[in-house]
Amino acid sequence: MNSIFATTATIAYEHALKPLLFLADPEDVHDRMTSFGETLGSLPPARSILASLFRYKSPRLRSQVAGITFENPIGLAAGFDYEAKLTNILYSVGFGFQTVGTITNEPYEGNRRPRLGRLPKSKALMVNKGFKNPGAAAVIRKLNGHRYAIPLAISIGRTNSHYLKSVPDSIADIVDAFSLFECSPSRHTHYELNISCPNLLTEVSFYEPAALDDLLREIDALDLERPVFIKMPIEKDDTSVRGMLDVIMRHRIAGVIFGNLQKNRKDPSLVESEVKKFKTGNFSGKPTQKRSDELIELAYRHCKGKLIVIGCGGIFTAEDAYRKIRLGASLVQMITGMIFRGPGVIGLINRDLDALLKRDGFRNIAAAVGVDAIQ
Ligand SMILES: Cc1cc2nc3c(=O)[nH]c(=O)nc-3n(C[C@H](O)[C@H](O)[C@H](O)COP(=O)(O)O)c2cc1C
Repeated sequence: MNSIFATTATIAYEHALKPLLFLADPEDVHDRMTSFGETLGSLPPARSILASLFRYKSPRLRSQVAGITFENPIGLAAGFDYEAKLTNILYSVGFGFQTVGTITNEPYEGNRRPRLGRLPKSKALMVNKGFKNPGAAAVIRKLNGHRYAIPLAISIGRTNSHYLKSVPDSIADIVDAFSLFECSPSRHTHYELNISCPNLLTEVSFYEPAALDDLLREIDALDLERPVFIKMPIEKDDTSVRGMLDVIMRHRIAGVIFGNLQKNRKDPSLVESEVKKFKTGNFSGKPTQKRSDELIELAYRHCKGKLIVIGCGGIFTAEDAYRKIRLGASLVQMITGMIFRGPGVIGLINRDLDALLKRDGFRNIAAAVGVDAIQ
């Protein structure tokens, strides 16, 4: 990584490019950016130049998690690349792993606009996509058996359809999506099972232990070759989360990701005047940070090594990532921090995280995982 270049690019993004981008419709900007990223990813010279400028490497950041090697612990969370357009460029930007999706068995064109909004004072985004995605078959065609430079997760959820009204129907739909990916030539390394998406057309919940147990029994029966991580909600209370973790630990699930979006419009970190602009939707970024941190620690302590914990929610700096790791996260993921600070921030977070580990005398990420979880 060229530190001076990455720092300058990040300052230029935050102070010059972002103010311009934030004037345009958020979804249009996202679509243009991902198409631009796809074009860059198709050009090998662009990939190598970007990697030399932005990608930070250190043996301290490397880890083995669920049998997969991660060169660094910073991943792109589900929801940014739901069309598998960025699979060739995220390595160059500096990510340690990536997530495609959430993908569903059948395609869905998305909820009515606005599906995305910005809350600059709250350091948050409003999200109301409802699993907009081209469907499993189209994504499998797009991935086309290519090999990728960093681990790639497929995030799977239930199809957003008026027709899926019951738990058994939704389980059958989710199982079909897993089967399609499992039998495909796709070279993904692991799965995410997203049970926590808000804003779907019908209310089917896997938060109740019985429904979750039924779903995971069917996932077990698939005998998947790759590890599965469950994307968890952050709005449930501690007792309910412990109940869900107890169910998950009885199944062949590698770990849990804490967590998804903030549903509570009254969360103190949300600025009221900004929230009022949006009638629907849930919130990413800073409003997810505190509860994500709490639930990482809760899961780390409760599961005692039986489940790997991945941290996600409100990471803007290396300190945010490091705090989650010290509370029990083996890996972390982000979206909103990158939108607010620019893609150059991934390398900078890795560089600064490396310095924090070194300062505190940790040989690697694994040595720091959970050191702050109160026993
Ligand atoms: C635009 C957007 C779309 C999202 N879509 C999904 C999704 O499809 N599946 C999912 O599991 N999480 C989704 N999320 C949630 C993120 O993966 C993540 O859990 C949340 O945004 C907190 O991380 P952040 O603060 O770093 O953005 C989405 C988030 C954003 C901002």
